[in-house]
Amino acid sequence: MFTWGVSTSAYQIEGAANEGGRAPSIWDTFSRIPGAVAKGDNGDVACDHYHRYEEDLDLIKWLGVDAYHFSIAWPRVIPNGKGPLNQTGLDFYDRLIDGALERGITPWPTLYHWDLPQAAQDKGGWNNRDTAYWFAEYAHAMAERFGDRIKNWVTINEPFCSAWLGHLYGVMAPGIKDLQTGINATHHLLLGHGLAVDALRQVSADFKVGITLNFTPAITLGDSAEDQLAVQYADGFDNRWFADPVFKASYPKDIVEAFGKEVPIQPGDMDLISRPLDFLGLNYYFRQTVAYDESAKPLPYKMVTAPNVERTGMGWEVHAGTFTELLKHINNEYQPKEIFITENGSAWDDVVVDGKVDDPNRTSYLARHLDAMFEAKNAGVPVNGYFAWSLIDNFEWAYGYDKRFGLIYVDYPTQKRIPKSSAYYYRDRIKNS
Ligand code: FCB
Repeated sequence: MFTWGVSTSAYQIEGAANEGGRAPSIWDTFSRIPGAVAKGDNGDVACDHYHRYEEDLDLIKWLGVDAYHFSIAWPRVIPNGKGPLNQTGLDFYDRLIDGALERGITPWPTLYHWDLPQAAQDKGGWNNRDTAYWFAEYAHAMAERFGDRIKNWVTINEPFCSAWLGHLYGVMAPGIKDLQTGINATHHLLLGHGLAVDALRQVSADFKVGITLNFTPAITLGDSAEDQLAVQYADGFDNRWFADPVFKASYPKDIVEAFGKEVPIQPGDMDLISRPLDFLGLNYYFRQTVAYDESAKPLPYKMVTAPNVERTGMGWEVHAGTFTELLKHINNEYQPKEIFITENGSAWDDVVVDGKVDDPNRTSYLARHLDAMFEAKNAGVPVNGYFAWSLIDNFEWAYGYDKRFGLIYVDYPTQKRIPKSSAYYYRDRIKNS
């Protein structure tokens, strides 16, 4: 059976940042830094999903999907990162999970979607090896509490963004700009993933466990050997840096050499990081165009703006054919048992007219990417599910609330939800599948 779903993440939708015993995460801290987030937005209220989850579950049911991919907020359930569980926080996820099941929707959580407890950051965050062990303890506790009702688990979402955007470029929490810290963060995130796989399997051998990686294929406009090198480095930095350790138990040699830095690997780490997985969660949004640039850091390439291409409201190129190629490539290169598209979607400047939101651009993006995915599936790639990003408009990290990815529009002042025309398209497509 093919699984149809929708995705969200805790910090982007829940709000209730100071309620129910939740402690601050690195995103609460980061969003307070002047200039860090567009318009000074933060996730204090977001979509108020903490209080409106019943309405949101009704919308998920209305869409007719099989599964709901959400994330558990670590600082809501273990406010200090380590130590006592917060019952009020756990009760919220009990209600959410039970509410999904009552509606015939399979709850499918991610354990880490970037909202590290600030208390753990204060001890070094992902730069500190201990964080990986605390993450595994947290994973174990969630499996014990919810494992009677949850079968599918994603450990970590997009370590690329946590490691590089958070610790090398500083454009996401915790806002650090240092290559060695980014490398350490990568290794400890992946180690945390591996330890969590073991921790989850300790609770039940029946769980299906995976990790979500985002892939951004690269092309170049030139045809020189240097341009090809730019593509190789971009692919290494964005994609292989994370997928190779997980599926091949080693970091890509060309990238390690080009960095000229040590990865803090201890004996046994690569075995843990490459534990066999039941599935790969794959996120795809766009392809990038790169050019060689000897002076660029940390690797000698830069992003360039390809002329005359279709772009979303994020400025990301729309290229569905890349999605088909990517799926085939990942299947050949890494042979995951199964692939689930855990995120795919697009942002546009939606407007409400007469109480309705017509978003033909999003519908077209969705339709073409679904076709592209099924093309890969028909060619033998074991892609067995698709989760649209996102159920509702939400806090788009450093872009704040201006970028809208939802199938369902959120009018933030009133918190009214309005299904966009793309939501009707998705609903029909699922119904007719
Ligand atoms: C992904 C994130 C998700 C959302 C989409 C647009 O990188 O996992 O939270 O921001 O991009």
